[in-house]
Amino acid sequence: MRLSLKNLAPVALSLLSLTCAAGAASIESRATTCNGHAELCDRSFGNITFVGSHDSYAIGTNNLATNQDVSITQQLNDGIRMLQVQAHNLSGTIQLCHTSCALYNGGTLQSYLTTVKTWMDANPNDVLSLLIVNSDDLPPTAYDTVFKAAGLDTLSYAPSFSALTASQWPTLGTLISSGKRILTFMDGFADFTTVPYIIDEFTNIWETAFDVTDPTFDCNVNRSKGDTSTSMYLINHFLDQIILGQPAPYPAMANVTNGVSGPGSLGQQVQTCAATYGRNPNFMLVDFYEYGGGSVFEVAATANGVTYSPTTPIASPSSGGSSSTSTSHSTSGAIVDFGLTSGHLTASLSVVAGIVMGAWSLV
Ligand SMILES: *[C@@H]1O[C@H](CO)[C@@H](O)[C@H](O)[C@H]1NC(C)=O
Ligand SMILES: *[C@@H]1O[C@H](CO)[C@@H](O)[C@H](O)[C@H]1NC(C)=O
Ligand SMILES: *[C@@H]1O[C@H](CO)[C@@H](O)[C@H](O)[C@H]1NC(C)=O
Ligand SMILES: *[C@@H]1O[C@H](CO)[C@@H](O)[C@H](O)[C@H]1NC(C)=O
Repeated sequence: MRLSLKNLAPVALSLLSLTCAAGAASIESRATTCNGHAELCDRSFGNITFVGSHDSYAIGTNNLATNQDVSITQQLNDGIRMLQVQAHNLSGTIQLCHTSCALYNGGTLQSYLTTVKTWMDANPNDVLSLLIVNSDDLPPTAYDTVFKAAGLDTLSYAPSFSALTASQWPTLGTLISSGKRILTFMDGFADFTTVPYIIDEFTNIWETAFDVTDPTFDCNVNRSKGDTSTSMYLINHFLDQIILGQPAPYPAMANVTNGVSGPGSLGQQVQTCAATYGRNPNFMLVDFYEYGGGSVFEVAATANGVTYSPTTPIASPSSGGSSSTSTSHSTSGAIVDFGLTSGHLTASLSVVAGIVMGAWSLV
């Protein structure tokens, strides 16, 4: 049997319309807003400035010194797009502790990631990075088990090779459309061949110094295992104070440190680094991000060339201190001398107790 041209025409037409339909469908499923901005959809992940919370789980408590005041969900709602954690091996369970689990125990990684998963499901047009400090050199397979239990493995982006230059990362739009919207970096013991979505930090991201007590915040390369001229970079923009010889968070300075401009501000460090390297930092880790009333997100928006226009108000500083005069001014001279706020006082007393019990530092 022969098909005549006349018979083929409808076939061709229906094939054509099928193709069009498929095309339309894929266009429809493409993200039109990425991390809150249409302009970011076509930008490489490696060409965007994200705000990160340093020790994101070390939230206000009467235990060890804390680096943040509000919950992970609130952090994400406010615009934090990199969550940094310190992971420890507590009797075979991966636990988020600060320096040691005896001093601060922020719960299991699995419980933390479950909270992240809930937020990611409710926010399908957002890309989020995790930065894991692998304190006890656990193998990536141990993390893989936890990611699977929390349902985050299927949302995780695995690059096709182990080290990428900033421009080689996919666009936010591609990450969102593919459903692979979590990028996890680990400071040590990542292994591309066993768990490719746990990405080695230092061959992909270099960092400035951390735990600095000098508010100048230089932009020098401090840690890297890659090509610093092409890889992404992270600035550690949190100021420490020395308490009994050890670095500790400095909440009383947070409104200045997180500021848009002026000496010691986040905005100023971004300008210095951009002038030095010809490009903005990719990640900016901060403490007590809500001090400054959204200034850290404004700095990111300016770096990204978009407008900062939050739809809901960001968290208020919960511990009084530098952005409200009441608490810090009513406390005793000794407390003020340490630059502490009453909300952080108990925490800092625990730090002191910890220092007395044995030598360690807070990072
Ligand atoms: C984690 O800690 C437990 C004991 O608390 C130990 O038996 C286990 O070997 C550790 N895991 C790794 C991978 O080091
Ligand atoms: C990194 O910064 C720390 C201070 O945080 C400093 O002690 C160290 O020397 C720096 N290392 C390099 C290689 O710059
Ligand atoms: C993104 O690219 C623009 C244009 O080259 C540059 O000005 C900006 O600094 C880059 N941002 C990052 C985070 O690389
Ligand atoms: C930081 O807070 C202190 C104390 O409330 C205040 O005097 C100062 O003006 C604030 N600085 C900035 C940059 O907001």
